[in-house]
Amino acid sequence: MRKRSLHAYRRRRLRLRDGRCVTLRAAVEADAAELVQAFARLSPQARYQRYMRGKTAPDLEALHRDVRPLAGEEFTFVATVPAADGIDIVASARIVRSASNAGHARAICEFAITVGDDWRAVGLGRALLAALLRRARYLGYRSIEGFVLAANAPMLGCARRLGFAVAPLAGEPSIRRVWRALRPARRARASVSARRPAP
Ligand SMILES: CC(C)(COP(=O)(O)OP(=O)(O)OC[C@H]1O[C@@H](n2cnc3c(N)ncnc32)[C@H](O)[C@@H]1OP(=O)(O)O)[C@@H](O)C(=O)NCCC(=O)NCCS
Repeated sequence: MRKRSLHAYRRRRLRLRDGRCVTLRAAVEADAAELVQAFARLSPQARYQRYMRGKTAPDLEALHRDVRPLAGEEFTFVATVPAADGIDIVASARIVRSASNAGHARAICEFAITVGDDWRAVGLGRALLAALLRRARYLGYRSIEGFVLAANAPMLGCARRLGFAVAPLAGEPSIRRVWRALRPARRARASVSARRPAP
């Protein structure tokens, strides 16, 4: 059974460049249905940019990880707005331990971000990536990486603005690896790599 994350995140309100506000908080189990709806609202292009393939239904295992992150290792943020049925999730962002850890002494996490089509280009993606950087440091990760389509200018631009390096990926001409070293946080937990072997 997966252990729920004990590392609470105090929700905060973010004012975006166009004046709209969202609440940024950790995903919780009750968000599962809203995450499915958020996926359903995404345009085919956004889905392709996020998953690098046409996707018609959300990945249930990933959804489970989002709402029940592995303690000390995974974290998912959601950005919400009030809606008739309670809330809508307009963006989400997660870190998980990266598959690249095999053979590496220091722990790497992998991020992924999705901003709803109607919420783009007003600073939300950047705010989410900045929040992920802080959370990754807090969890003790030493670096963070992501895999992005070479044609995904907004994500590459966003990553560059936050200090990521962008490099080609061997054998995958249409994909770029973006990565950044992380300074240890003052309150960082014991190294992730020390606590658990790579899968
Ligand atoms: C990529 C994505 C997360 C960016 O989110 P966003 O909220 O639109 O981005 P922001 O408004 O915060 O912009 C952040 C930075 O990205 C860059 N950027 C944004 N749009 C851009 C564009 N069209 N071209 C180049 N750079 C761009 C800019 O540097 C910008 O910083 P600035 O506004 O200070 O100049 C969003 O477009 C998205 O969810 N796309 C679909 C899913 C996806 O591609 N996920 C990434 C795979 S992990």
